[in-house]
Amino acid sequence: MPTETVYGLAADALNPVAVRSVFAAKSRPADNPLIVHVHSVDEVESIAAERPDSMLQLAKAFWPGPLTMVLPKRRDVPSEVTGGGNTVAVRVPAHPVALELLREVGGPICAPSANAFMALSPTRAEDVNPDLPGFAILDGGPCQIGIESTVLDLTSGQPKLLRKGVITADAIGEVLGLRVETGDGDGEKKSPGNYPRHYAPQTPLVLVDCLAEGQPGLGFEGNFQHQRTMPREPLAYARELYSALHDLDRLGFETIFVERPPTTPEWAAVWDRLTRASGVL
Ligand code: TXA
Ligand code: MG
Repeated sequence: MPTETVYGLAADALNPVAVRSVFAAKSRPADNPLIVHVHSVDEVESIAAERPDSMLQLAKAFWPGPLTMVLPKRRDVPSEVTGGGNTVAVRVPAHPVALELLREVGGPICAPSANAFMALSPTRAEDVNPDLPGFAILDGGPCQIGIESTVLDLTSGQPKLLRKGVITADAIGEVLGLRVETGDGDGEKKSPGNYPRHYAPQTPLVLVDCLAEGQPGLGFEGNFQHQRTMPREPLAYARELYSALHDLDRLGFETIFVERPPTTPEWAAVWDRLTRASGVL
């Protein structure tokens, strides 16, 4: 299914057999929980045991949209979905096709990104892993956000950012009227999906200050062959990042070089994905 962030490999979140087939298709470790997508904030009740005020405030500010919130799970949510844990991650996606699908299905849909474990997420239908067996692709066009949702843990008194995304810790903090911990380090334990190497193309990726001639990759000038000129604005950059990497990956170079973007806070989510893709985190 398309979402505004990346394409997801969708299954009925309340059907353990369907959920297990998603893990199998991705070769994903069973302890890495899935995000559950729902149609509206009201539907969160069907999977979460509590809807704290912070969740309602954030839902009002950012849903439908690329913010995932981790809440205590309801007992009837299959433990397959939550990786055996007692919390569940939930979001309302902002893509019209995803919302239509949720409305048709009439229940929660779990969906990890539609790539093999650790590989690059697809942001176009043609980038969905063709090796995923027996699945149909619902083509909703290119994803408008382009990187995975922000993941925020609301299960303790202090909200914690588990995965960076275009909705920043500062933006969340502003809505809640407090400072949000970015949980660096701790996030690794709390969110099993935070592996140092992740979101990576097949081709090794190396970060550089400036692309030289003969270095295929992503830059801000892109003067030479196989150098893609990327936007200087972080949201536009995020939107193009994975499709640009998928394109370069297909050309089979020995290395993909990527010019380091600015280090200002607006680039934090892009930096997170680039450092994981290069495996140097
Ligand atoms: O943008 C997105 O979030 C996309 C689209 C399809 O919605 N989905 C996505 O799913 O990126 P996935 O499975 O690739 O990443 C989910 C992340 C993982 O890092 C996982 O560990 C974390 O969310 N997560 C899921 N449930 C959790 C939970 N109960 N507690 C902590 N982390 C959780
Ligand atoms: Mg993923």
